Amino acid sequence: MQERQQGLRSKLSQLGDTPPEEFRKQLHELADWIADFREHLEQLRVAPNDNPGTLRAKLPERAPEEAEPFAKILSDVDRIIVPGMVHWSHPMFLGYFGWTSTAPGILGEILSAPLNVNAMTWRTCPAATELETVVIDWLREWIGLSDEFDGVVYDTASVGIMHALAVAREDAAPATRKLGLTDRDLPRFRIYISDQAHSAAEKAAIALGLGEENVIRVPSDDQFRMDVNSLGHNVAQDRQNGFQPMAVVATVGTTATASVDAIPEIAKICREEKIWLHIDAAYGGGFAIVSEYKWLSNGWELADSVVINPHKTVFVPLDFSVLYVRGLERLRRVFMLVPEVLRGDTIEGEKNYMDYGIQLGRRFRALKAWVIWRSLGRAGVVAGLREQIRLANLLAGWIKKDDRFELSAEPSMGVVCFRFIGADEKKLDQLNSNIVERINASGRAYLTQTKLRGRTVIRIGLGNVLTTEEHLRKGWEIVRNTAADL
Ligand SMILES: Cc1ncc(COP(=O)(O)O)c(C=O)c1O
Repeated sequence: MQERQQGLRSKLSQLGDTPPEEFRKQLHELADWIADFREHLEQLRVAPNDNPGTLRAKLPERAPEEAEPFAKILSDVDRIIVPGMVHWSHPMFLGYFGWTSTAPGILGEILSAPLNVNAMTWRTCPAATELETVVIDWLREWIGLSDEFDGVVYDTASVGIMHALAVAREDAAPATRKLGLTDRDLPRFRIYISDQAHSAAEKAAIALGLGEENVIRVPSDDQFRMDVNSLGHNVAQDRQNGFQPMAVVATVGTTATASVDAIPEIAKICREEKIWLHIDAAYGGGFAIVSEYKWLSNGWELADSVVINPHKTVFVPLDFSVLYVRGLERLRRVFMLVPEVLRGDTIEGEKNYMDYGIQLGRRFRALKAWVIWRSLGRAGVVAGLREQIRLANLLAGWIKKDDRFELSAEPSMGVVCFRFIGADEKKLDQLNSNIVERINASGRAYLTQTKLRGRTVIRIGLGNVLTTEEHLRKGWEIVRNTAADL
């Protein structure tokens, strides 16, 4: 009997799909699983405290030869996968930018699974292509970006920055697409970022053959913003030394402190010097939707490209990043290439998103953005972001009142950096690091640590819709008690 069942399962896994009635049952089971997971998430540890290899040791070394039932797979998720996870959706996850799962976001993700299309060209899925344009336009309107900019959805900001710099490279060295960079009489190109900027620009320089060393880290001022005078000085000196300034990547919401570079002043230099200006608004861009934070987008109209990660701050589940380019056609000219096999599915005049980057196959990412943004509305997005800002300021107020701690930077958007100072200065770096390590190992909360001006600081990023004032108060209590214990 058992053998017959196994044989039947094996047949099912090899030919055709699960029978509809069984699939319906599994879907209901999964729906219950997801609802239970969300409801009881808070009772889980935020993070495991396992040694590397723990999960692998619990799983067979080889993939199964025979088909296995879904119920068994799901029970292994509960037993093995869930306990081995850092739960980014947990209300006590206060690390990085605290991005978030929401119920409508989960529904959006689920919806795209059965559709499972490839949005390479308009023809290979008209709805996916057109919906991508719709959500790109919605976001552009929400953040008040001019319609001289048009966009494309990628997975991450790192990929967006690389594509933006590929266009900047083509501007600086025409025909690079065709001829490459070598054996041509070209100068060494330079890219400028602040000493607080994300490493994505360096990675892009590596990928584009521009060289990591040609990314110059300009010092930041006392508010962790790119020092504009130093930028001007670097550009002038590089020109004197025979380099060609190619691009500036300015940041709106740096990774450590969420500081905001002075875009209008930087844009002025870029205009005068004819340098591509890319704005890395991966984190901060979303906050420009909030009216009192509209100033974040000052000067963007002078930029060449802007990247925003709605998966960080506009409630779309990972991954979803939008690159806006002024005159998107410039990006298309660098990457458009139609292989013969796609000729029949490429209608001239229709948007074929495969033309705007190196990626051919593309997920239907727009669907989840459309579901979540319709479910929240602009008002819901703004309310969510305002709450993050309120909580960040509340925490900063508590820190200021405790003389064993100091703020390491003014809170910006949902980010607060601070430091325990109640011990011998020489021990402070290690102590602050130990506080974070011990809290994360406890599974009760999850924080990040970083270095600011060479000193280790504790960093809290608000962003999770489940994190309430009570959770934050509990997190602050845990920090204070852990510092006292250490
Ligand atoms: C300011 C900034 N830019 C770029 C990135 C890279 O983002 P992604 O992970 O989407 O590539 C990050 C990631 O945290 C970031 O903070």
